[in-house]
Amino acid sequence: MAKNTLDQKMQQIVSLCRRRAFIFQSSEIYGGLNGCWDYGPLGVELKRNIKAAWWRDMVTERQDIEGVDCSILMNPKVWEASGHASSFTDPMVDCMQCRGRFRADHIVKNQCPTCGTKDKFTEVRLFNLMFKTYVGALEDSSSQTYLRPETAQGIFVNFDNVVNTCRVKVPFGIAQIGKAFRNEINPRNFTFRSREFEQMEMEFFVKPDLEEANKWFEYWKQERYQWYLKYGIKQERLHLRPHEENELAHYAAGCADIEYDFPFGRAELEGIANRTDYDLKRHSEVSGKDLKYFDAEAKTHYVPYVIEPSAGADRATLAFLVDAYEEEPENERTVLRFHPAIAPIKVAVFPLVNKEGMPELAEKLTKTLKKKWHSFYDDKGAIGRRYRRQDEVGTPFCLTVDGETMKSNTVTVRQRDSMAQERVAVDQVVGYLEKQLTGI
Ligand code: GAP
Repeated sequence: MAKNTLDQKMQQIVSLCRRRAFIFQSSEIYGGLNGCWDYGPLGVELKRNIKAAWWRDMVTERQDIEGVDCSILMNPKVWEASGHASSFTDPMVDCMQCRGRFRADHIVKNQCPTCGTKDKFTEVRLFNLMFKTYVGALEDSSSQTYLRPETAQGIFVNFDNVVNTCRVKVPFGIAQIGKAFRNEINPRNFTFRSREFEQMEMEFFVKPDLEEANKWFEYWKQERYQWYLKYGIKQERLHLRPHEENELAHYAAGCADIEYDFPFGRAELEGIANRTDYDLKRHSEVSGKDLKYFDAEAKTHYVPYVIEPSAGADRATLAFLVDAYEEEPENERTVLRFHPAIAPIKVAVFPLVNKEGMPELAEKLTKTLKKKWHSFYDDKGAIGRRYRRQDEVGTPFCLTVDGETMKSNTVTVRQRDSMAQERVAVDQVVGYLEKQLTGI
């Protein structure tokens, strides 16, 4: 697709997100805050469904992974041990012409992205991405800590707690979903690079053996790649890319990215890294607590290696939005073809007209459906427009209570993707939808 068309597509998606209550600018009435976003009523449902799908597939349905939910503020020693206090930096330059500030590695042909001036940048400086804050009433170095830049460290510092309380055996994982904060030099591309975002991370502990670690590294690359396909991402837009040696984070022995073809280019959705025993060893050294694991079968103590699939919940949400988005001028509609498991609204119910008992029956039906799924009642406007409003937010099913309902106790069920309609008995609607929405 030509660049203009892609820019236009992204603009359409951003505008749909605003218009249909998916994503708003943070503190919009005050002019916003760069790099921060708010999810509206439909956006929060979409993102919650994505996080729930991740949790179900990574924790609930597995025998070998436990979940945790750790605090965002942590003892500052955590960040000293993890290496973030000294190494979590991006190279930064300022344009001497317009005073714009940029990531040095994002500058192309030494030209300022804002004013176009060439070769007029300051020296590269390293900028630490962690947000500083103070705990307690005193604002001095003794009370300073950071907002966590990744959720992973909460998992590492709880490794011993989980081992001692949950009868886990290597290989096993600990998972967490939660907020992370990075003072990005240039937040951009809508929610893609934000300053406040959510991560879905899992640390999988394996025997400290390179072959064993590589086996699990391969396993998690495939599992995570398949996960996006399972919820409908188009395979031709999804890529697994091994990192070059010079791209590796300070803790990683190997890494691969799952990338998606966004309208603004191919970009990272998730990283799968072999973090070796770096984190647990560092926490042992700095805290003085022995974090070795006792392998009862091998009768030996060791510090496990870690394979980490680390995904961004906001990036996944953006990818699912972009991937689902289709304009169908021939059907006079824009449609979000969400997989039913992540669709914000599963079913909408309409009375064909606002009389003859139809609204009452439709409302009663909505109430029943709401006990199972996020459902929506709409009695405003022509029926065709109501269908299109639901297509635009990705609702897989619409039910219409019409004249026939009053005679034969059946409703029209209309499918979003095919727009096909069929009649289903009112008392079988729940069973019918259950079948269509299986596994969600
Ligand atoms: N614990 C490893 C780690 O944090 P990362 O590659 O820096 O690795 C993991 O981040 C994921 O978090 C990324 O793949 C991305 O999905 C998400 N992420 C990172 N920075 C982000 C940002 N500024 N805005 C939105 N998501 C971000």
